[in-house]
Amino acid sequence: MQVKVVIGTVAFMLTMMILGFAALREPARMEAFSRAAVGRSIETGAEIFANNCATCHGVNGEAKECYDTAGNQIGCKGLPLNSKGLVCGDRPARLEAMNWVGSKEAFIKQTVAAGRVGTAMPTWSERFGGPMRDDQIDNVVAFVLNWESEELCSQPDITFDWPESVDDFLAEFPEGDAANGEALYLSYGCIGCHGDVTQEGSNAVGPWLGEIAEVGATREEGKSAAQYVYESILDPNAFIAPDCPTGPCTSPSAMPGNFAERMAANPQDMADLLTFLLGSGE
Ligand code: HEC
Ligand code: HEC
Repeated sequence: MQVKVVIGTVAFMLTMMILGFAALREPARMEAFSRAAVGRSIETGAEIFANNCATCHGVNGEAKECYDTAGNQIGCKGLPLNSKGLVCGDRPARLEAMNWVGSKEAFIKQTVAAGRVGTAMPTWSERFGGPMRDDQIDNVVAFVLNWESEELCSQPDITFDWPESVDDFLAEFPEGDAANGEALYLSYGCIGCHGDVTQEGSNAVGPWLGEIAEVGATREEGKSAAQYVYESILDPNAFIAPDCPTGPCTSPSAMPGNFAERMAANPQDMADLLTFLLGSGE
């Protein structure tokens, strides 16, 4: 009798200890579990990105290196996503620029799900007529957000005060390199919208720029072609060109508005692009 009570008591206490220990470990177990789930989500997102997004946003999301399905390098039509201005901190610069009041997660998710009307950014969510389920959207968004890293986010903010007049700009950057300008026309993705400057009609979204050295001078009263092209790149909405390939160009402009920011790191890029588009004789 006594022995049974002792055994019963010990068994009871052991059970309680094991249960209690398991309960104590539960939060840690849950955390490890959700970390693993996030890791899997990012991994799946990476695959979705490579198959659906890299053609426009680049293999590393930097909008620098884009390839078509045959493996040929093409101009990137999309914006950099692996960028400080989009993924770093709670209020990345891009949210301010776009007047977005919600979180960056919501900004990215909304853009991916619904696309951007009037731009090359397609709609991805089934909810808006796209091809992806909610979980696929969540995974690719997790992958994009995962670019936030100490290395990326500790980069200094680079700004450049673009002079209003192209002549003042060119006084600072007089040596435009046409060959490099041609490479930049590809790597900044101009070619994806404006086409090959040597082939009229090769433009998909924006006007063909093969004759912009002459046409540019006629766009706005009193503006030289150089001034006009310079302003078109820095502030696409300042003036909307008349003719796009599928009809009149629409406002707001389908041309990305952040080249001023992107070229701030290297204003010489602007000089090279101007020389490529306008020739060195301007
Ligand atoms: C056909 C080209 C194309 C494809 C494919 C594409 N995008 Fe985009 N994306 C764009 C363009 C162009 C923009 C810029 C739109 C604008 O000017 O507002 C953009 C913008 C974005 C933005 C907002 C960036 C910002 O700074 O405002 C996000 C986020 C984004 N894309 C994610 C994706 C993801 C994720 C995929 C794949 C599921 C994808 N995109 C596929 C062309 C593309
Ligand atoms: C996502 C597509 C897209 C990209 C990328 C793009 N543009 Fe544009 N661009 C347009 C559209 C659409 C217009 C016409 C609407 C307007 O005037 O803003 C335009 C207008 C222009 C004009 C005025 C053309 C005219 O006939 O008056 C110039 C010059 C220009 N872009 C240069 C560039 C350069 C240089 C780049 C690369 C650094 C570039 N664009 C990148 C879509 C794009």
